[in-house]
Amino acid sequence: MNREDTIARLRGGRPVIAPSMLKCDYGNLNDEVARLASAGASVLHWDVMDGHFVPNLSYGAMVIAGMRDRSKLVFDGHLMISEPERYLDDYMKAGLDSITFHIEAVPEPASLLKRIRAAGKVAGLALNPETPAEAVLPFLNDCDMLLVMTVHPGFGGQQFMPDVLPKLAKLREAAGDRLISVDGGIAAETITAAATAGADVFVAGSAVFDAPDYGAAVTDLVRRASAAPRFSH
Ligand code: DX5
Ligand code: ZN
Repeated sequence: MNREDTIARLRGGRPVIAPSMLKCDYGNLNDEVARLASAGASVLHWDVMDGHFVPNLSYGAMVIAGMRDRSKLVFDGHLMISEPERYLDDYMKAGLDSITFHIEAVPEPASLLKRIRAAGKVAGLALNPETPAEAVLPFLNDCDMLLVMTVHPGFGGQQFMPDVLPKLAKLREAAGDRLISVDGGIAAETITAAATAGADVFVAGSAVFDAPDYGAAVTDLVRRASAAPRFSH
């Protein structure tokens, strides 16, 4: 999918629930991807961790590439890695439709964002809970998407940090029609606040994978986000 098509699909699908593959059953990845498609998910969020930028290791480009041909869903890559520039080509070739890396890993991200866009992918910039909005504002012109972390990256199943909401609202104001994704602790109890503050895409790990019925979980999250004032008119 090219960049414009990916953006149109994400924008048209708002509020988008993006299951975080960090929380899936890796012994059964193929079935998990099929179950998520039947559950009505349109995006899969692939959390890449290197054991260096974050204190955990997940999977890399080969695993994502292996699943690419088995799914037509949007593949959204979240690179929680140091020196993403060294590995970027591998992730682009793996068939990700959007690639997000961290401003804390690349304080001068313009050229990397441009490389992602030039390859026909959606370019995203992520920021950790303690990183101020100002860190990413100078680079908005090279960005299609911001990913606002509402937990410290590295692990699923952590508690949503409501202190991040004012920053999310500030970025919503500044970001114009760019997409804003929110990641960490998104669940029935927290999604309304994140939607109201301005998120378009809601990454959800535990709230989907710990539910007995993925479809019911996705539907409930969509319903709650849709009821937020900015989606409900
Ligand atoms: C955290 C990852 C998230 C995480 C979300 O480092 O970026 O995508 O897996 O999981 P939950 O929804 O359980 O917080
Ligand atoms: Zn993530």
